[in-house]
Amino acid sequence: MKLISSPLYFDYNSTSPLSPEVLKFLREGEVDFFNASSIHKEGRRAKKVLNDCRNFLFDCFQLPKDCYQCTFHSGATEGLNTIIKSHALDQSSPMLFVFSMADHPAGIENQKFLERLGHRVNVIKLPLNLKAQQSWEESLFESYNEPIKEYLGNDFTQNTKKVFLYWSWVLSESGVELPLTVLGRLKDLYGESLITCVDAVQTPFKIPHWNKLIPTLDYYVYSGHKFGALKGIGFTFERLSSNHKMFSMPLLHGGGQEAGNRSGTQNPLGVLSLRMALESQLPFWDFKENSQVRENFELALKQFFYSKNLTAKIIGEGVSHRASNTIFLFLKDVKVESLLAFLDAEGFSLSMGSACQSQTSKSNPTLLMLGENSKDAKSTIRISFSPWMSTSDSEIIIPQFVQALMKFFPQR
Ligand SMILES: Cc1ncc(COP(=O)(O)O)c(C=O)c1O
Repeated sequence: MKLISSPLYFDYNSTSPLSPEVLKFLREGEVDFFNASSIHKEGRRAKKVLNDCRNFLFDCFQLPKDCYQCTFHSGATEGLNTIIKSHALDQSSPMLFVFSMADHPAGIENQKFLERLGHRVNVIKLPLNLKAQQSWEESLFESYNEPIKEYLGNDFTQNTKKVFLYWSWVLSESGVELPLTVLGRLKDLYGESLITCVDAVQTPFKIPHWNKLIPTLDYYVYSGHKFGALKGIGFTFERLSSNHKMFSMPLLHGGGQEAGNRSGTQNPLGVLSLRMALESQLPFWDFKENSQVRENFELALKQFFYSKNLTAKIIGEGVSHRASNTIFLFLKDVKVESLLAFLDAEGFSLSMGSACQSQTSKSNPTLLMLGENSKDAKSTIRISFSPWMSTSDSEIIIPQFVQALMKFFPQR
């Protein structure tokens, strides 16, 4: 099976092409359009698609069915907003919400809303500029633990204070992974005083163990269009024993679908595409091979920019945990809009901003976090290639990319 539809498409973190299996099904399969709430046989068939997929997802992500609930919704923006707003609206007393500057806007853009309701918000800087010998996991643990410890105090089991922690498992721009084991440690430490919400959107097929979830964390949120399923479909695993339910304050009221958690006619075709995309692409995925492509690509880029006397820095390069398909480059004094337009004309599609915000030219929050000024913080490009790109594919594609760069920077 050929998994790369266009090898020059380098914007997988923004959205991935439909998986070949999903495409084939849409072209040739028996596409169901029935309403899963109807009692006739077609409706029952649609309902079975939903139930079978839920079971599949529990198996695929290795989560115990009796401890979690799986709810289908539209994309991750809806899932994440539902969780955050539900907690914000349903708390009798104010709480602390912790984000990082590099989180996706679907989380961090809730800041004003939360503050208006009287909650505290702490936006931390991630320790991406690690010094040699420093452990990424330890630095990360300390960065998040500090505001939590400060807010909850030492005798947190004696009070009712709560902290909501938004955890971007893989950062959409830089592909840096915030290992789940670190969050697991924080959860073990603070128990029910800490609500843990994992934005797992960028993880499938990009890091090892993306489908081995820790069964103590409260929420995991996914979006189909990031791994070859249709757009507008996503799902959330919610821990059942947490003392607050995400959907105790559902954002959408109506027909009571998804056990009343998320009203609105369900989307069996979208749900089926989730299963197809995960199931059919897994056997072809090789993290090590894809990471080797990234390393080769980075080396070629560094050599090229060095030869042109240009300052180019790979963001997160020193971090031990990174997605196999993502390179985030800071190019000082380069007009990246012009570069991207040129590369586009040469057939290469890549982006400059965070995933799904690619057309903005705002200063990049990760670069601001690293201390760059607002002008320089605009000089970034992100290459996010197919997680199925092999080293033999890359032997052709990387030189083509470097050739295109040479045309853009001819005289330097
Ligand atoms: C890390 C992350 N979280 C959340 C989202 C939002 O997902 P959706 O496009 O499904 O609303 C994105 C989209 O780019 C993302 O990259």
